[in-house]
Amino acid sequence: MKDKIKLNLKEIDNFVATSTEELEIFRIKFLSKKGLITSYFTEFKLLDNDKKKDVGILLNQLKIAAQSKVDQLKIKLSSNTTTLKLNDITRPGDPIQMGSRHPISIVKNRIVEIFSNIGFTISEGPEIEDDWHNFSALNLSEHHPARDMQDTFFVDKDPDFLLRTHTSSVQVRFMENNKPPIRTISPGRVYRNEAISARSHCFFHQIEGLCIDKDVSFADLKQTLEYFTTQLFGKSKIRLRPSYFPFTEPSAEVDVYWGLNNETDYKMTKGTGWLEIMGCGMVDPNVLQNCNIDPNEYSGFAFGLGIDRIALLLHQIDDIRLLSENDVRFLEQFKSSI
Ligand code: PHE
Repeated sequence: MKDKIKLNLKEIDNFVATSTEELEIFRIKFLSKKGLITSYFTEFKLLDNDKKKDVGILLNQLKIAAQSKVDQLKIKLSSNTTTLKLNDITRPGDPIQMGSRHPISIVKNRIVEIFSNIGFTISEGPEIEDDWHNFSALNLSEHHPARDMQDTFFVDKDPDFLLRTHTSSVQVRFMENNKPPIRTISPGRVYRNEAISARSHCFFHQIEGLCIDKDVSFADLKQTLEYFTTQLFGKSKIRLRPSYFPFTEPSAEVDVYWGLNNETDYKMTKGTGWLEIMGCGMVDPNVLQNCNIDPNEYSGFAFGLGIDRIALLLHQIDDIRLLSENDVRFLEQFKSSI
């Protein structure tokens, strides 16, 4: 038996295959269920114990040699075919896998485009903010009850630093560093200490807008909002409901009239036809002053909306968590929106 195995080892060593068929015959001869190696193992079991050790070692060598020969030749043969493919310039190319944009990016880019078209610049700022830019400068002093609505994550070692709750902080930074006239939008990720559910997450994305100039009025705000909803949703009918934000006075929630044309409309608008999409208002004079802008000379409006909510709305997605799970089966569906 030892001699036979040694002969086989030589045979394996010398073996070359020029086609996958030849390789397959070789594999069947040695490695298949009815192949040589299996039959050697059956014979091996019947050997006397004192012979088993030597034969066992050889038999294992044979098995490893046959398997690695098959593996090597497989790689060699397949790379031969790829070279052939590469050389054949008349072959149609392999299709390129297209990626897809994330639904948040799609909506963000669209909103940025809409406001760029009427002269708004884009401004960005840090996600880790200090108390002043996120709260105090915006009329939310240390013990202001409205801070409760925007609970967030604080840096343990220095609670003056926190994860920003809105991109209004970017507007403060922008006002501190630029003189009016100002027209800017601030997209970015924001954080809130909220329980995660299908409707809300502990982080999401916002775009806030700011316009400061001489004689800016509430009418300018309303017209800008109408322009925006027409561009984004194709719907121009909006209503402003009185609301409260510490940094704007007066403040309002913006609803867009979505209509009640089908069952989805009923569901989305809870039967009212109206959908709340953003908050807005005239910038509080205190805020202007905090940012070194004279409120007697300048006035302005601001607004803020959640990109995630709009993405859910436009794409009829019913769970906000899908936006951050990175499941390709979900993300691939947005290929056509690039
Ligand atoms: N910063 C507010 C929020 O995050 C939104 C807002 C911005 C409201 C500007 C009014 C004016 O809730």
